[in-house]
Amino acid sequence: MYRYDEFDHAFVRDRLEQFRDQVNRRLAGDLTEEQFKPLRLMNGVYLQLHAYMLRIAIPYGTLSARQLRKLAHVARTYDKGYGHFTTRQNLQLHWPRLEDIPTILEELAEVEMHAIQTSGNCIRNVTTDHFAGAAADEVADPRPWAEIVRQWSSLHPEFSFLPRKFKVAVTAAARDRAAIRVHDIGLELRRGPDGGIGFRVFVGGGLGRTPMVGREIRDFVPENALLAYLEAILRVYNRYGRRDNKFKARIKILVHERGIEEIRAGVEAEFETLRGGALDVPAEARERIAAYFAPPAFADLPARSAALEAAWKADPTFGRWIARNTHPHKVPGYVSATISLKPVGGVPGDATAAQMDAVADLAERYGFDEIRVSHEQNLILPHVRKDDLRAVYDGLVAAGLATGNAGFATDIIACPGLDYCALANARSIPIAQRLSERFADADRQAEIGDLSLKISGCINACGHHHVGHIGILGVDRKGEEFYQITLGGAPGGEIAGAGSGVGESGGAEIGGADAAIGEIVGKGFSADDVVDAVETIVDTYLTLREGREETFLAAWRRLGNAPFQEALYGGRS
Ligand code: HEM
Ligand code: SF4
Repeated sequence: MYRYDEFDHAFVRDRLEQFRDQVNRRLAGDLTEEQFKPLRLMNGVYLQLHAYMLRIAIPYGTLSARQLRKLAHVARTYDKGYGHFTTRQNLQLHWPRLEDIPTILEELAEVEMHAIQTSGNCIRNVTTDHFAGAAADEVADPRPWAEIVRQWSSLHPEFSFLPRKFKVAVTAAARDRAAIRVHDIGLELRRGPDGGIGFRVFVGGGLGRTPMVGREIRDFVPENALLAYLEAILRVYNRYGRRDNKFKARIKILVHERGIEEIRAGVEAEFETLRGGALDVPAEARERIAAYFAPPAFADLPARSAALEAAWKADPTFGRWIARNTHPHKVPGYVSATISLKPVGGVPGDATAAQMDAVADLAERYGFDEIRVSHEQNLILPHVRKDDLRAVYDGLVAAGLATGNAGFATDIIACPGLDYCALANARSIPIAQRLSERFADADRQAEIGDLSLKISGCINACGHHHVGHIGILGVDRKGEEFYQITLGGAPGGEIAGAGSGVGESGGAEIGGADAAIGEIVGKGFSADDVVDAVETIVDTYLTLREGREETFLAAWRRLGNAPFQEALYGGRS
């Protein structure tokens, strides 16, 4: 795991002292809220409906037990005893008092965490595959590269006031679990023709009011030249991105308006001036960072665990959890385990301080002290011995965290919506809770198989509804909450956790599905009717699918919207 050096410590300390002073001036009335706004946004502090909100970065989704315990402590001491894990590997506290925020940041600095660049028009937290370093299907661990990009982008003087926010995601696996095609820049680590490592680069993906799937801008950038290439893209964006209209300011609009060829030509010209210069990442620098991510001391184990197989046959609930919530590991005898933050009727992504402590304990005891955060708003223990899975599971049961639903209908992504967010048109959380109750039955979920439901409370799409197999968007219709449904969206890879790491495959994989934006099925539904509408869609799928191996997404791709429209509106849509 990466450890701060003197530079990192000084950088976080300096920013903390600046922000403490800014908060004091705001509290004393020397700064208006308007004057304070750009300062707080540099430090992850939003103003929501009822309170300030603090967004804390979890770089590339990796936490140690000590860090997770600190998050638990902060949530318990300065907030209402829980935190909310987001779709971009951040943790949000929804009720901190402004006067406490500098102290919270001071506590976080003790464990090498901060909230810098988690908001504002800058390069945000770099995200990656939550199974990085463990996944059987990866070329290499992408986290050293995410860290190198983090260092380059932190307080980058040229890119601190971009036209709009900028998000980068990296994956190194055959299946994209980081939704790279819906990021401003998506990086796919791959091997080049000569066997050397480099990156295929996508640009201009994004959700929000104009959702777009990123376009390939270069099929291979050698690893040493990555920062020069990123700098070239950012320069082109910074220079030509629109600043006249914030709804047209993201790089996806620039790519759309100018065309990928013109953007590529501009980036290549810039790249020529930069490559081989100061941004070149020499092998010794890459090795120094990679050393922080060296694999833990795995034991030499047989691939199968007889004890586990006996336990799972004796207990069908445990068996179901294994089938959904474990994922193949590159080292024999180990798996990655998904800890669902989607209990039936719960708030997707929320974890209490006690639960965070419990996960930290399990990570220390059984998981080489590592925890990951996924963009599906779940937690992961990336390295667990198969022999220890039962003990881990029992610990999760005790903490109320043993829901075996990864990638199922109840593994819902939802944004905070009207319960917290000042921009919302409609509530997301109560809809997620009702859907999760409706589909709670374990056998029914297994029968339905892989299905992602994603809910956003407004067109900003924080809940990823555009890339849900079933997407739900809250809209305001004459002061009333309504919900528009889209079908057929996909973030571009398998659903996390689908497919078991223990022998049997847990359901068909979505894998290989290209990223796609969902299509609107018809007119919206009231809050009372939307859950029935989703059930109608699911029942229609179950009737029309060509066997269990045809997933919802595959069936929709074969059938299109028509039969679902017929079932929902009877031809009256
Ligand atoms: C409650 C405070 C929040 C506010 C005010 C807020 C605001 C916004 C806005 C304005 C956008 C659209 C940006 C654009 O298209 O240029 C956006 C996008 C997004 N937000 Fe949020 N958001 C909030 C919370 C969240 C949460 C809790 C999550 C994760 C669960 C999240 C994840 C995202 C994602 C993934 C996108 C779309 C990706 C993209 O940038 O294209 N946001 N947010
Ligand atoms: S999608 Fe809209 S309602 Fe939901 S958190 Fe984002 S800005 Fe708020």
